[in-house]
Amino acid sequence: MHLSKDYPKITTHVLQEMKQRGEKIAMLTGYDYSMARLLDEAGIDVILVGDSASNVMAGNVTTLPITLDQMIYHATSVMKAVKRALVVVDLPFGTYQGNSKEALNSAIRIMKESGANAIKMEGGEEIVESIDRILSAGIPVLGHLGLTPQSINKFGTYVVRATEKGEADKLKKDAKILESRGCFGVVLEKIPSGLAAEVTESLTIPTIGIGAGDRVDGQVLVLHDMLGINQDFSPRFLRRYHNLHDEIIGAFDHYINDVKAKDFPNEKEQYFK
Ligand code: KIV
Repeated sequence: MHLSKDYPKITTHVLQEMKQRGEKIAMLTGYDYSMARLLDEAGIDVILVGDSASNVMAGNVTTLPITLDQMIYHATSVMKAVKRALVVVDLPFGTYQGNSKEALNSAIRIMKESGANAIKMEGGEEIVESIDRILSAGIPVLGHLGLTPQSINKFGTYVVRATEKGEADKLKKDAKILESRGCFGVVLEKIPSGLAAEVTESLTIPTIGIGAGDRVDGQVLVLHDMLGINQDFSPRFLRRYHNLHDEIIGAFDHYINDVKAKDFPNEKEQYFK
């Protein structure tokens, strides 16, 4: 079932309708103009300009170093390409935690300078003040619970979250809080599928899972992982839809050999006047 393809533009309201009629939401990350064009042409529902750009675009070990200016640069490039998908941008680490005024300024900068449609923030009860302030400015907010990579230094590991009752109960409570404050959806990252299903059933807003099983309202993957550009990241939840690593290396290898063999450029590939 792919009814959402009939919509000329995906909005937060469309995502709500998709949940109601049981159509799954397809979301992928995107960070640049060329890939965003392909994602939009393929009919993706949501493009997340994730702070995973810190890892896959900038080569950092964690998502923590990426700045607000860098996120705005990625989001602006994506927005130039997109006609139909909803574009959501991560508020990066250090731009919203513990200071709701700064949170609002960060969100406004993203919306104003990139033209994006919504922002995403990691956390529950602890960031409610920032969420309230951003929502009060009319900026749609997507929540993010479970494994929240901006807190990796607190967790100390990327293992599955909320396997113990205490953490699972807090996650359920946080999901309800995000819904009641007005978030339009929640990303659930790397949690047991039973817990994700329970949260999904308890909410009227859509849940979008990554490593959260099949009983959620949508799925998200990091673009470079699902295309098989990254060969050194293979968590259980990841399905690789292509082996771009080998395809790209093959093309580079071919080009290098052609240049060395003086085969490129040929007669037809040069100007004579
Ligand atoms: O930054 C990101 O790519 C994300 C997804 C993993 C949900 O937050």
